[in-house]
Amino acid sequence: MDIKHVYVVIFSPTGTSRKVAQAVAAGIAHEVPGVACTAIDLTTDYDCISIIELEDAVCVVAAPVYGGLLPPLAVDRLRRIVGTRSVALPVVVYGNRDYEDALMQLGIVLTNGGFGIAAGATFVGEHSYSRPEYPIAAGRPDAADLDKAEAFGRRAAQLIAASTAEPSLMRTQLPGNNPVKTLLPPTHQIPVVNDKCNTCLKCISICPTAAIVLADSGIRADFFDCIKCCACVKQCPQGALTFDTPYSAMLSAKCTVRREPEIFWGIGE
Ligand SMILES: Cc1cc2nc3c(=O)[nH]c(=O)nc-3n(C[C@H](O)[C@H](O)[C@H](O)COP(=O)(O)O)c2cc1C
Repeated sequence: MDIKHVYVVIFSPTGTSRKVAQAVAAGIAHEVPGVACTAIDLTTDYDCISIIELEDAVCVVAAPVYGGLLPPLAVDRLRRIVGTRSVALPVVVYGNRDYEDALMQLGIVLTNGGFGIAAGATFVGEHSYSRPEYPIAAGRPDAADLDKAEAFGRRAAQLIAASTAEPSLMRTQLPGNNPVKTLLPPTHQIPVVNDKCNTCLKCISICPTAAIVLADSGIRADFFDCIKCCACVKQCPQGALTFDTPYSAMLSAKCTVRREPEIFWGIGE
């Protein structure tokens, strides 16, 4: 396949999937100097309806793992991306517990959208519920992870460029169950605002679901719209939002063994 255009499609509330996807794309660009590279960030893209059609493209598609699956909102938004004569590299990023069926699910969503799947990968990112007192994969993806992501992009570009297969027909055996598991109900907690808040409104601008509003009483998160992604908690300049869940302590105690990136090749290897 002649690689003419690279798209980096992400849903990434706390930025770890974004970092991994960018490193993969950097690896592809290293192998195909001067290739056009376009970012499509679906994180705060509230338009779930109109189709985004990508032609003759290699698409790095990255999203986090929530409950062993993709966040339902990410699935809705990714369904807008449709590929013609295009191949995807699905990547899921998880908080060092497990990715379960998430990569399988991402592969299914992209195949349904017309993409071939040249390879897939799982990477580890700092858990959304990680706190200084309860670290869970803190600081990841780290330099070693990002080196592996770039190497993945380089090798994938070599294999895709060498392949004579019709891009949309490329297939990869990804891990996970098909049909995928059933998503469990979300936790009951939502982010809570403390008195450090100076109503800078950054949280409102970065919330993937527009769940945060400025009410008469100040900033508050809506229970039903909040997807517990912790984007607001991690990015508040004042540290004015907290998300207290028993999972922080539990996962910090249980998920201490470092898990490494895994790559699944569909063509050539
Ligand atoms: C609601 C929710 C559920 C999650 N479920 C899992 C999980 O099942 N396994 C896991 O290892 N990490 C899980 N995580 C952690 C995220 O996958 C991890 O922090 C990821 O790096 C976040 O990606 P982002 O930075 O692109 O938003 C969960 C996070 C949230 C907010």
